[in-house]
Amino acid sequence: MRSFFSILFIFNFLYALNLSPTLAADLEAGGKIFNANCTACHIGGNNLIMPSKTLKIEDLDQYKMSSVEAITTQVMNGKNAMPAFQGRLSADDINNVANYVLNQSQSGWDDE
Ligand SMILES: *[C@@H]1O[C@H](CO)[C@@H](O)[C@H](O)[C@H]1NC(C)=O
Ligand SMILES: *[C@@H]1O[C@H](CO)[C@@H](O)[C@H](O)[C@H]1NC(C)=O
Repeated sequence: MRSFFSILFIFNFLYALNLSPTLAADLEAGGKIFNANCTACHIGGNNLIMPSKTLKIEDLDQYKMSSVEAITTQVMNGKNAMPAFQGRLSADDINNVANYVLNQSQSGWDDE
């Protein structure tokens, strides 16, 4: 019970700081997942299979993918040539990598 209230406290604290809980995602862990599991097709935020559908913010916006929720859904379920990662990656890993992808898309994938 005590730790449950501690977690509530932390979330309230993040809200008080005006940070959404998605910022609690571990972007560094997400980056490792991305490098291990996604770069075969998405190196540098590109798309080697469908070159017009990159992970860059213009394309994510155009295809209504520029939210952690939309990216999470696609990573979980896959789409076209992209495999489903639900069951292959943990929910935590998927959340972290989705946050990483959105963050990189907004920062311009410039450190690749
Ligand atoms: C993700 O990457 C790790 C580390 O290379 C690997 O062990 C694992 O099999 C990969 N998982 C998937 C679903 O590609
Ligand atoms: C991406 O994450 C880094 C590290 O947390 C943060 O400093 C940066 O502001 C984020 N970029 C965007 C566009 O949210």
